[in-house]
Amino acid sequence: MTSTPTETHASAGEREVRREADRRRTFAVISHPDAGKSTLTEALALHAQVITEAGAVHGKSGRRSTVSDWMEMEKARGISITSAALQFAYGDHVINLVDTPGHSDFSEDTYRVLSAVDAAVMLVDAAKGLEPQTLKLFRVCKARGIPVITVINKWDRPGLDALALMEEIQNEIKLVPTPLTWPVGIAGDFHGVLERRTGDYVAYTRTAGGATRAPEERMGPAAAAARAGVDWATAVEESELLSSDGADHDQDLFLSGFTTPVLFASAISNFGVAALLDTLVELAPPAAAFRYGKEDADGRPAEVREVTAPFSAFIFKVQAGMDTNHRDRVAFARVCSGVFERGMVATHAQTGRPFATKYAQAIFGRERAVIDTAYPGDIVGLVNALSLKIGDTIYLDEPVSFPPIATFAPEHFAVASAMDSGRFKQFRRGIDQLDGEGVVQVLRSDLRGAQSPVLAAVGPMQFEVAVARMESEFGAPIRLETLGYTQARRTDAASAAELGSIRGLEVLERNDGTLLVLAPDKWRIGVVERDHPELTLEPLLAGER
Ligand code: G4P
Repeated sequence: MTSTPTETHASAGEREVRREADRRRTFAVISHPDAGKSTLTEALALHAQVITEAGAVHGKSGRRSTVSDWMEMEKARGISITSAALQFAYGDHVINLVDTPGHSDFSEDTYRVLSAVDAAVMLVDAAKGLEPQTLKLFRVCKARGIPVITVINKWDRPGLDALALMEEIQNEIKLVPTPLTWPVGIAGDFHGVLERRTGDYVAYTRTAGGATRAPEERMGPAAAAARAGVDWATAVEESELLSSDGADHDQDLFLSGFTTPVLFASAISNFGVAALLDTLVELAPPAAAFRYGKEDADGRPAEVREVTAPFSAFIFKVQAGMDTNHRDRVAFARVCSGVFERGMVATHAQTGRPFATKYAQAIFGRERAVIDTAYPGDIVGLVNALSLKIGDTIYLDEPVSFPPIATFAPEHFAVASAMDSGRFKQFRRGIDQLDGEGVVQVLRSDLRGAQSPVLAAVGPMQFEVAVARMESEFGAPIRLETLGYTQARRTDAASAAELGSIRGLEVLERNDGTLLVLAPDKWRIGVVERDHPELTLEPLLAGER
């Protein structure tokens, strides 16, 4: 059969998109604060030679000041609230590292970032093992089927036993660790790693402060034995033990979320960073198709938007005030299918209105660059995208609307009211804006009225951000009155009235129409569940309790 010129053209275009999607690796680093995420990010960028000296990306004490401290609060606390993406070429591949906030109070932002990536790197502090936030985010990855690569960091410092760490991963998160490298030398006496696939020894040389690329020296087992002696012998022995336990990498098991490849590293000295990049390229999945539409029998959206379909993108983050000089509002979009071309007019699925993409940027901290073209897996910062909210979709030609991002159950609640009642308009605009950005969740009820919405947060620092921005950005300072609730469950209209009449409970509505029941503690929820099994009380996030 002969094809028409348009078909030939389309298939050439599709081939190009497929090729570009295939060479992209889009991932986020998840970790407990202080595990070394900023350090690793710098090291990755350094390897990709985006920056010439570690410290130019993120700034903490002593390091060069950076991007993510644009907000005064971030500066004061040395945390990073904003998320953006760092793109760099690595060999023939394009790496998109999507930044996540460091503080656990903003774990909901991290969760949203996880909706935009194809893989995650779980960074574990060798001395601390699995910490609460790592566990929480890890479970999210598991529930979402995101393949996870584990990096045991800070091996240059005294820490836990390597085999004990593997056991902890297996027991705590029910994921089989399959080390790709195995440390030669205990934590604190790091000489290099045994590369289990080849049996080679990759020895590391320290550089001053880790500020330049760490030279790696590769050698065979005989040379390794001569160089590292008993440490090499121990590593070989332990690696064999792992093999006999079935802890060898299996690509299918990794992609289907049963195993996690493990690497040992010292981000601060750049040890293991090249191995991580190679692992991402070789093992992490390329930019994948996104699903949408009604759920099938497995609870997954039944339709697939192939990467070669016309352009579509998903908004996973909205951030205002990133540039204090311009008071702009940036919507971060993950390209899901097709080609993004700056200037194109897409359709905003939620309103059906046209959306012009004139101002598109790559944003990482303070660094900004205009993006003209982007492919599936890429992150585009759409500047002054006032109509776009978190979870929204924009598309070209064939309509699509990706499912909204589920939310964590908030654990902190406070009634907000305008300090100056004459500025109610600004108050309402500000509250709506913070709601749309996901800075806090905003809950309302007839009982409380429009003047006193309830702000809900996963971590109390979200309130600080809300209070600061209401004053500085919207000129409507607010007063917060803390409520004594710690629990939220989802309910339905049929159960709402009865639940609302139970002492100690309150029912409020979120802007997406979800009805939330607030309760002082889990015990209270348990009592209601026992006494009223007919009433609907569900966790907000699958598996969350
Ligand atoms: P985070 O973004 O996950 O919160 O962690 P960050 O990179 O800021 O690292 C937390 C601390 O751990 C930093 O020390 C950092 O230097 C140190 N660190 C990170 N990776 C390694 C590593 O591989 N080995 C060792 N020994 N230390 C590491 P700090 O004293 O808090 O800050 P700084 O003054 O060094 O910047």
